[in-house]
Amino acid sequence: MKQPLGPRKPSFLNLRTINWILRPLDLLEIYARRYGDPFSIGGDNLPLSVYFSHPEAIRQIFTADPATFVCGRENRPLLPILGENSLILLDGERHQRQRRLLTPPFHGERIRTYGQLICGITEQVMSQWQVGEPFCVRSSMQEISLRVILSAVFGLHSGQRFEQLRQLLSSLLDSIGSPISSSLLFFRSLQRDLGPWSPWGHFVQKRQQIDQLIYAEIGQRRKQADYSGADILTLLMLTRDETGKSLTDVELRDELMTLLFAGHETTASALAWAFYWIDQLPEVHDRLIQELDTLAQDLDPGVISRLPYLSAVVAETLRIYPIAMIGFARTLNEPFEVMGYQFSPGTSLVPVIYLTHRREDIYSEPKCFKPERFLERQFSPYEYLPFGGGNRRCIGAALAQMEMKLVLATVLSNLKLSLTDRRSLKPVRRGVTVAPPGGMRMVVTQRQRQKTPVHF
Ligand code: HEM
Repeated sequence: MKQPLGPRKPSFLNLRTINWILRPLDLLEIYARRYGDPFSIGGDNLPLSVYFSHPEAIRQIFTADPATFVCGRENRPLLPILGENSLILLDGERHQRQRRLLTPPFHGERIRTYGQLICGITEQVMSQWQVGEPFCVRSSMQEISLRVILSAVFGLHSGQRFEQLRQLLSSLLDSIGSPISSSLLFFRSLQRDLGPWSPWGHFVQKRQQIDQLIYAEIGQRRKQADYSGADILTLLMLTRDETGKSLTDVELRDELMTLLFAGHETTASALAWAFYWIDQLPEVHDRLIQELDTLAQDLDPGVISRLPYLSAVVAETLRIYPIAMIGFARTLNEPFEVMGYQFSPGTSLVPVIYLTHRREDIYSEPKCFKPERFLERQFSPYEYLPFGGGNRRCIGAALAQMEMKLVLATVLSNLKLSLTDRRSLKPVRRGVTVAPPGGMRMVVTQRQRQKTPVHF
């Protein structure tokens, strides 16, 4: 029986896991070069994981009956943050039910209502930047995306609880944000609470404080019995299962935390990359400005979302360094065949987004940032998959793309940003994703014509 090649033995001192934490993209490239596509890790007496980048293999995985796999179990490193009732950790009927519930608030008309909010929040954050003073782009983008998701989830725009949640969530994610501190998620032996000064103790303390705030918000809503809001918490509180039972406070907390966690770091990292590429490539910047200059004085979120070149820049940003370098691992419940390989139950199949996006047979000059490719050709969902696919496809994809376009348009219509250091950057691990290095800083060098009422 044909088997994909790959390392079979446990690695010395867990070096493979350490490399996966510290140099994830290099490791994927090295294995793809050494063993081909697909490659596998494990086998013999170890669990087997098989990594695919061929679009046909990705198609077969994404279009299989969801009952073929379990997925949530493989996402257990996120359990300490998200809790066991998180959509990301669920499988089967419960997963489907929660997805049916959580998908509509992130689609169609509902996300369009966030358009003005996103532009307004971007203006507020922009107004903190001083001409000539360097600032950390990722942090600024995180401030924008966190405010947006807090509004969507809780309907909160300001107030003490909003501010506390905002600061604590940033701090929690920063505590696992560096390549080294990300190890906390991967090695259970490091998850020891030795007091607030120990890394895990600090993490646990922040998480408890966040939980208290979330439970306080849920408690207040229950007490006031006010379910008039259009926010996601209201929607979840009104939900009943087929037996008429509503979600418990712990279930609500886990689902809210999932949206807050998955819904802002990713978008913030993608936005930071977009600003990086736009500054690195003046021709991309100029073409974007030309496109934005065709717009009326007042930026209309609906019109911005449909701008072709801006959309292509966003798409290319998510292609070249996908924030999630791999999709969720799908572990087989039953025997399954992919491109002539037979796999037995217990094998994990992993779509490698990064390697698919780097295939020369799909993308010419894959290492080059070329937004035009998205104007010249339409890629299939198995060739271009920054948001994964199938029954686990990211529920926030539409919101994330709209948010990226609106933030870019609002900033670039008003300001010119430049990197303080023009050296080329490579992604670094940030928790379970990859992001631009934390030290990436930019500075406002010049203002564009004023479209929106921004004052410095
Ligand atoms: C640029 C931004 C984002 C990227 C690149 C991204 C990427 C991904 C990827 C690759 C997956 C796994 C899909 C799979 O394996 O098939 C995923 C799942 C998920 N994403 Fe996102 N995401 C982003 C933004 C968001 C936002 C804004 C939200 C908030 C609503 C969100 C919520 C989720 C959730 C809840 C899941 C789990 C879905 C499930 O298990 O059924 N993401 N995302």
